Amino acid sequence: MRILGIESSCDETAAAIIENGNRILSNVVVSQIDIHSAYGGVIPEVAARSHIEAINPVLHQAFTDAKLDWADIDAIAVTHTPGLIGSLLIGTLAARTSAILHNIPFYPTHHLKSHIYANWLSGYEPEFPLLALVVSGGHTQIIYMERHDDFHIIGSTRDDAIGEVFDKVAKILGLPYPGGPAIAKVALKGNEKAYQLPMPKVDGLDFSFSGLKTAVLRAIQKDCNLPITTPSHELKNHLSAQQINDFAASFQATAVKILITKLKKAVKNYPEAKSILLAGGVSANLALRDALTSAFSKSHRVYFPDLKFSTDNGAMVASAAYYSIQAGEQPSDPYDLDILPRSIIH
Ligand code: KG4
Ligand code: ZN
Repeated sequence: MRILGIESSCDETAAAIIENGNRILSNVVVSQIDIHSAYGGVIPEVAARSHIEAINPVLHQAFTDAKLDWADIDAIAVTHTPGLIGSLLIGTLAARTSAILHNIPFYPTHHLKSHIYANWLSGYEPEFPLLALVVSGGHTQIIYMERHDDFHIIGSTRDDAIGEVFDKVAKILGLPYPGGPAIAKVALKGNEKAYQLPMPKVDGLDFSFSGLKTAVLRAIQKDCNLPITTPSHELKNHLSAQQINDFAASFQATAVKILITKLKKAVKNYPEAKSILLAGGVSANLALRDALTSAFSKSHRVYFPDLKFSTDNGAMVASAAYYSIQAGEQPSDPYDLDILPRSIIH
């Protein structure tokens, strides 16, 4: 079965054609990073306009690379939630129009489910039951799955998402957007023990990251002898290169520790879990991958998406739809679709 997967929920316009859930026939991603980095973050209106320009060329390229035509496609899958509303509109409109024009079954797909299914794109078949740590720009969740297409959220962030905090701390440190890769890069030259940042006190399996961001802010002000009224955008002017590296390393180490601590708790609560998966844009972080491997590889099979499938792409959308279809999901009506900027997995 060949599925065309379309993704446009944030700042990547992407399309891929995938056979039987994991055979990649094409995978095209056009990123808007260069446009948004000038503003230090994603500007929703600009993102939507850029999707309009990119969507048709991206689709065309996906077919050219796969050497296929619309008649070869068995299903169209598209991210319809969650994401930026203007961005979601463009991908879903392209998908709906194509499904109607070419009479192809249509499957709206959940973005976080797709991130989880990025783990199937390398040809592995993670064993169930499993725990997935979903760490992206918009979400931080621990999800328990007993089987395909079966998702239970057992932990969530109560405030900022982890990727959002990487981006905000990077901005404070004067590093470029997106902050995650920028922090990871300079952290390699920093001392992660240079600054002691507090662990949040949140019960159960939930997360909180806004305190960590404020703790970085206060630690910089203290280290530079600045009053706490100093605006965050001014702090970077007072930091030396070594301080930036050390703050990045200390922040990253604390963020990783928070994630691993909660996942250890989840493993205790779900002793039947056989596999542990990492998913979402922050899964590209090598310090997090290393920490996950050392914490769980003796007790569990640990899976990461291929680096090119960690951040947003169409391949994971097609893969998620494939396993939903195998689990019995019926096609949706392309004339009638809800686009939900915020939503939970159900
Ligand atoms: O999944 P994604 O591409 O988009 C959303 O669904 O949100 O995730 C984007 C997020 C950004 O916050 C970015 O800073 C973060 O993933 N990210 C990283 C790394 N690469 C991307 N965070 C930490 N380390 C990285 N290497
Ligand atoms: Zn994403």
